[in-house]
Amino acid sequence: MNFRLSEEHEMIRKMVRDFARNEVAPTAAERDEEERFDREIFDKMAELGLTGIPWPEEYGGIGSDYLAYCIAVEELSRVCASTGVMLSAHTSLAGWPIFKYGNEEQKQKYLRPLAEGKSIGAYCLTEPGSGSDAGAMRTTAKEDGDHYLLNGSKIFTTNGGEAEIYVVFALTDPSSKHKGTTAFIVESSFPGFSVGKKEKKMGIRSSPTTEIIFEDCRVPKENILGEVGEGFKIAMKTLDGGRNGIAAQAVGIAQGALDAAVDYARERQQFGKPIAANQGISFKLADMATSIEAARLLTYQAAWLESEGLPYGKESAMSKLFAGDTAMKVTTEAVQVFGGYGYTKDYPVERFMRDAKITQIYEGTQEIQRLVISRMLTK
Ligand code: CAA
Repeated sequence: MNFRLSEEHEMIRKMVRDFARNEVAPTAAERDEEERFDREIFDKMAELGLTGIPWPEEYGGIGSDYLAYCIAVEELSRVCASTGVMLSAHTSLAGWPIFKYGNEEQKQKYLRPLAEGKSIGAYCLTEPGSGSDAGAMRTTAKEDGDHYLLNGSKIFTTNGGEAEIYVVFALTDPSSKHKGTTAFIVESSFPGFSVGKKEKKMGIRSSPTTEIIFEDCRVPKENILGEVGEGFKIAMKTLDGGRNGIAAQAVGIAQGALDAAVDYARERQQFGKPIAANQGISFKLADMATSIEAARLLTYQAAWLESEGLPYGKESAMSKLFAGDTAMKVTTEAVQVFGGYGYTKDYPVERFMRDAKITQIYEGTQEIQRLVISRMLTK
């Protein structure tokens, strides 16, 4: 067993850490305040190859692996969780199903621009009446000559409105429920595609989350991803990996909060000494660091399993469950270490705390992760 990261992984970590510090961190608070997505950051990430980390070079990627991708999401989230999830949804929710289920033509047409960072990707599963119960979706896709006509609306779409390529799930046979679900690749330029309400959120405020509306949206048959009726399985498999991207985001958020809390605890003087000299504070920091390390190991393990072609669904649900709870706990404690200042926008810990909450909710709530894990234990 070897816990040392490879030279390539260390190199990617250093590159992303420098990029995050120099290009992402300086505007993170301002973008959060203004709820502003910055395409320039994505373009710069593309120049560095970050938009296609796990995809082979023949599809425009840099041919690395899922661990390298998780390290990138972690380092970005350490300064800006919105930028972290932008890359996570782009890579694991849009790129992955096309890489795994797309034919050669689809990969060249859609995975390549995603990997090269010429387009942003998104994933449309959730609907107003279908969240945890993903199989209850209502969006339909009706055959019309050499096209399908999509009707319905999806909500909570990360990268919504900014993305050009959407992986969308719709019912081609509404009577067969999940067995009648099909996956489609939909371009934002297709007639009948439109972007609806943009959510006003507690956290990850510079990551756009929108409704996507389909009104007789004309999707060519060649844009069916996988087989007709295979969509639910594709949606679930996609989330298996996506959840580990969220775990990486959670680890990054928690680490960013710990970094800030350690610095503050060493500098802040009360009763004539740094507050870190009190066990009430230093033990808190020790517990925070220990939980983060455990969350990181779970996350890296799931990424490694996926990179090795081994089963990773259960481990990915576990990493998301543990890392999400860790992020929430650690960021809350970080605010406590800062005291009153932590509750203000003068320091980043209140943003980290707001950002952490979503990691317990999206890509399957913590309760759904427990369902997935327990079903795998007992099936
Ligand atoms: N891999 C492959 N197949 C799977 C699978 C998996 N991980 N999970 C389920 N399936 C298959 C089952 O084998 C079954 O197939 P058969 O009928 O052929 O046997 C079929 O799918 C139905 O499975 P279940 O009976 O287990 O389905 P269910 O209705 O009980 O639901 C669930 C399972 C795990 C609860 C699922 O609905 C789920 O994951 N819900 C949460 C959805 C979610 O995470 N949403 C987040 C959306 S993305 C987002 O957050 C926004 C964003 O942009 C970031």
